[in-house]
Amino acid sequence: MDMPDPKTGPVPTGYFRWEPEEDDVLICRAVRDETHDVKTFVFAPRFKRQFEFVSGQFLTFEFEIGGETIHRCYTISSPPSRPDTVTITVKRVPGGPISNWLHDEFRPGMMLRCTIPMGDFSWAGMQDQKFLFLSGGSGITPMMSMARSAFDHALVSDIEFIHAARTPADIIFRDELEFMGKRNHSIKPTFICEDDAVFERWPGFRGRFDRAKLEMICPDFKERVVFTCGPAPFMKAARRIFEDCGFDMSRYHQESFNFDSFTEEAQDEINVATEIIETPLTIFQIEFTKSGRVVECPENMTVLEAARRAGLRLPSSCSKGLCGTCKSNVKAGTLDMQHSGGIRQREIDAGKALLCCSKPTSDLVIER
Ligand SMILES: Cc1cc2nc3c(=O)[nH]c(=O)nc-3n(C[C@H](O)[C@H](O)[C@H](O)COP(=O)(O)OP(=O)(O)OC[C@H]3O[C@@H](n4cnc5c(N)ncnc54)[C@H](O)[C@@H]3O)c2cc1C
Ligand code: FES
Repeated sequence: MDMPDPKTGPVPTGYFRWEPEEDDVLICRAVRDETHDVKTFVFAPRFKRQFEFVSGQFLTFEFEIGGETIHRCYTISSPPSRPDTVTITVKRVPGGPISNWLHDEFRPGMMLRCTIPMGDFSWAGMQDQKFLFLSGGSGITPMMSMARSAFDHALVSDIEFIHAARTPADIIFRDELEFMGKRNHSIKPTFICEDDAVFERWPGFRGRFDRAKLEMICPDFKERVVFTCGPAPFMKAARRIFEDCGFDMSRYHQESFNFDSFTEEAQDEINVATEIIETPLTIFQIEFTKSGRVVECPENMTVLEAARRAGLRLPSSCSKGLCGTCKSNVKAGTLDMQHSGGIRQREIDAGKALLCCSKPTSDLVIER
């Protein structure tokens, strides 16, 4: 008999799994305030179905706002052990169209389309017992799903959970983490705040996350598997701390909600690849109908990259064919798309493509 993965739990039998290829609409069941600028949205499928995913995965939602279709990814903050609903926990980003719309307009009973859970930032399948979760701001969501799962399954894993927030009023899931820590001693939350809140003086660790705090809070961190998620500067600083300590970086896992840093890495790879190829490349013309721009794209470059180099900013997140943010209608021409699950077959059949992982094989006309 196959043993269930202790970090995800047994898959229930005799139930219907939510299949977005059959019905990709989710209904909002509840909206919960977490902090002054963070809300949790609870979703259920339209028909009696259960969700199957691993902690750390995200959903890509489709929003129709102002006549435009916009995609955004949100990590599932609920655990797989509660499969009747999924929750996402969203921080209001000043000036951000979707996070503000969700906070101000989205209500229980309203519906959204979304894709299957994706992403591999997860501890599922790992045999390790000792973990360090390190999160900043809304980057807490993937680790919260893992911690909730550990709590539900009464895992004996040793989880040191360090969360950095601006003030005590900004600590997301504070009560729940403290409750879990009291009831299950293998979950050990520690909060670090940069400052006091208006109505609360912070008595705990203060300032930014640094090496001294890491060594004080978690002296045995080198024995642990590390999961990190948070704003780009936080992630950059955390990574440097672990590298400087001689940490075995094969045990260091990170997820970013802002893929710009990964995009830069991808750009470097493209630059190198472009430089070493000496044979002449075929150059294709790409017309973007909404902006009225025509850009040139060598055969070995993605459409997204060619647009970016021509100064045209198109929506994108992961640049890996995962999240669906760059999905666009291709009105004419052919391309070679190597995606990683961010688009459904029926969307491809309907003429859509992910521009971040598509290279032209002819001139193209794209609705952007
Ligand atoms: C894999 C993945 C998982 C994600 N999971 C979550 C999640 O669990 N909770 C969540 O709140 N957001 C999450 N995000 C970010 C989310 O997709 C949106 O980018 C965010 O809600 C802002 O959307 P917007 O349209 O309001 O603003 P955008 O136009 O998307 O962003 C405006 C600016 O804010 C920055 N930004 C985006 N998200 C944040 C953030 N959370 N904190 C600070 N600055 C940000 C962007 O880089 C950009 O510069 C995730 C993103 C990815 C790629
Ligand atoms: S940017 Fe994520 S799929 Fe293209």
